[in-house]
Amino acid sequence: MDTKKNLPNILIVDDEIGPRESLRMILKPHYNVYAVESGYAAIQMVRQIEMDVITLDLKMPGMSGIDTLKEIRLIDPDVMIIIITGYGTLKSAIEAIRYGVFDYIPKPFNVPEIISIIEKSIQRRKLNLKIKEVLRQCPNSNKSEQNEGAFPNQNSSEGQACLEFSKVLAYTLEEKDPYTSGHSERVCYYSDLISKKISLPPKDRNEIRIASYLHDIGKIGISNRFINKKGSLSSTEWAIIKQHTQKSIELLIPLKLSPNIISYIQHHHERYDGTGYPDGLAGDQIPLGARIISISDAYDSMTSDRPYRKPLSNGEAKNELVKNSGKQFDPQLVSIFLDLLNEMEEIFMFRDHMKVPSLSY
Ligand SMILES: [Fe+2]
Repeated sequence: MDTKKNLPNILIVDDEIGPRESLRMILKPHYNVYAVESGYAAIQMVRQIEMDVITLDLKMPGMSGIDTLKEIRLIDPDVMIIIITGYGTLKSAIEAIRYGVFDYIPKPFNVPEIISIIEKSIQRRKLNLKIKEVLRQCPNSNKSEQNEGAFPNQNSSEGQACLEFSKVLAYTLEEKDPYTSGHSERVCYYSDLISKKISLPPKDRNEIRIASYLHDIGKIGISNRFINKKGSLSSTEWAIIKQHTQKSIELLIPLKLSPNIISYIQHHHERYDGTGYPDGLAGDQIPLGARIISISDAYDSMTSDRPYRKPLSNGEAKNELVKNSGKQFDPQLVSIFLDLLNEMEEIFMFRDHMKVPSLSY
């Protein structure tokens, strides 16, 4: 096959000749397209050629789509995988999502949708690789294992360097989505107000600030189609979104962050009543930093413009916090945060969203 060096490599994995060939014809003008009919052949191909995107049919004889996906992930953790789902494979699709997929395409194909999803996955892969490269260059990623505790015992200049680094990563994530612009900075601001109010020591405060900046970094691997979807999400779409906490942790491994920071990021979607994710932790089982970030994150999301809804007013958002106090949120922290908001209202005659009071630590 003729390959053009500057074009992305796409691998189509489908046992049925009809969909495989039609997809090949659709994609051929835009990419270097490879097509195979089985999981075994896909794995051979991925070992030989670096793929940018793989479209994977889940329902195949021999090696299943799920097993193929697991193997491919071991060989190439960065390749973007788009699953092809037909009727009856939704359950497998949800299982597949656990192994990290960018998006899914339902059969029968819709050509503009396929091109759009593949194009977005290529852009996202570039961003992903850029972030990984930045992470590799982070001084802490070169520390020896015996220094792994350096972050937990970090001195203040290392803590400050890590905070600055976390900001860069957060801004990179926000670049891809205008709707989240400034979100991590505001989450950091609100979280730090709470941390300060409850007199957490400086090291803990800094860890919560870092986790606030990085809490959603795993969304880098998830299609905006779900993140900004208007209307309700299907169970598959929800499962994809929920991946982001685990993806964040995986992405941050090279930084060798303290276990506290990791746990705050991992658990920022737990709910106080135990119905959250990823682990269904309840009450004090949820790390304090995660309980704080959960409130800041929710408040800022509610009061921000989203493609699927208008922002709530400050009063409406506060009512939501009260309504969900003890359910989604730690009631004591909600009460502290509401007091802080009331104080801020008095000082600033309340918030212009884009102007968070200057962040001085
Ligand atoms: Fe999140």
